[in-house]
Amino acid sequence: MNNKRFQRMIDEFTLDSDDLKNIAAAFRYDIENGVKDNGESSLRMLKSYIGLPTGKEQGEYLALDFGGTNLRVVLIRLLGEGKYEVVKKVAKPLVVPGEYDFICADAKAEDLFDFIADMIDEAIEKNHDKKYLLGHTFSFPSSQTNIYDARLIIWTKEFATQGVEGEVVNDLLKAALKRKQINNVEPTAVINDTVAVLLASAYKLGNVNVGSIYATGHNTCYYEKFNGIGKPAMVINMESGAFNKLGINEFDYKLDLQSEKPYEQRLEKMVSGRYMGELLSYCLDSAWHIGKVGFTSIDISTILADNSDNLDKVCKLLNDKIDAEITVDDAIWVKALAETIASRSARIVVATYCGIMWHLYPNDDIPQQYVAVDGSVFEKMPTIKENMQKGIYEILGDDADKIQLVLENGGSALGAALAAAMEPVEG
Ligand code: BGC
Repeated sequence: MNNKRFQRMIDEFTLDSDDLKNIAAAFRYDIENGVKDNGESSLRMLKSYIGLPTGKEQGEYLALDFGGTNLRVVLIRLLGEGKYEVVKKVAKPLVVPGEYDFICADAKAEDLFDFIADMIDEAIEKNHDKKYLLGHTFSFPSSQTNIYDARLIIWTKEFATQGVEGEVVNDLLKAALKRKQINNVEPTAVINDTVAVLLASAYKLGNVNVGSIYATGHNTCYYEKFNGIGKPAMVINMESGAFNKLGINEFDYKLDLQSEKPYEQRLEKMVSGRYMGELLSYCLDSAWHIGKVGFTSIDISTILADNSDNLDKVCKLLNDKIDAEITVDDAIWVKALAETIASRSARIVVATYCGIMWHLYPNDDIPQQYVAVDGSVFEKMPTIKENMQKGIYEILGDDADKIQLVLENGGSALGAALAAAMEPVEG
């Protein structure tokens, strides 16, 4: 065991308060450039052509939630007053090892969208008479010219299906519905999952301007009024995972080079659930020369949740994965390292939220509000919420009390239904 090596890795993942303030300031700078027409920014700042709901929206809508390895089609009844009911839900994985894989580099768009069309048919119980409007939460960077027309710019989260990048996703969906003779389902709106979270939370709670996903992937959107710029107010999907003004260490660098899309999604690769376990794998290989053993963010959660004296669970996890004798001392260092990887993630994420606040309230007059967040890392990974809260205090001081992080569970489907129900923003 080389304690110095571990301590050095921990130092490489540590961000102090000044680092956080610098990240928040650099992020704000990229927002402000990004809202200008020709400003240089690493944030994509994609227009979503939708505002915030009134809370009074009503009616039955189909919602398609396509953003991770699990696909969901949900029939939702909006009841107004921030209330809704789930009438029917169908959920299926996009990968079943040994059976099918719709997201690998060999997979084809047609097969993927045929699979989705079949799920839609199941959700409507093969009723081909009743008319359904469908809202689609598509959680990948897409450039839009209106609420319907979203063209995938680039796959993220290691998705690689052929024939989708550069295409209008709802056209691919429409063609599949046609092939399956499902002519009564009409896709009308596409939104990002961050936008869905913001809409869902605005519908239920009100007083929210920022929606964020902290899960396999990471991204944030906010309601932009374009004050003084003369454009219509609407939600902007920042694609904050692409933010690139962050110092990276040797492990971030290795991970990036080995990923599906090197040099893309720099921030996301430092913070999201898809990558945190992988960062730990690179670190342990560097310390112990064990090759790349696959750790996941669930492993990180297991490590962080073990507060026993002998770290029994951490030792067991390491022993199961690594062909070497693991001591309690080793486990203590691995836990400290995992804590730092998770804490760096949480701190970077909230630095971006604070950057948005500085942009929205340049006169230091942040009003009380919610920031809506959905995702397994936020919801389930130990230490994350505490580190987020602490990070906000380090950046905003007493103003931190103005921001309440709230879990918006299942917002992707509700948001899609709302998008189908709402009047779009033109512009
Ligand atoms: C995508 C975003 C998405 C986020 C969370 C990222 O990889 O680029 O569009 O919002 O994951 O799902």
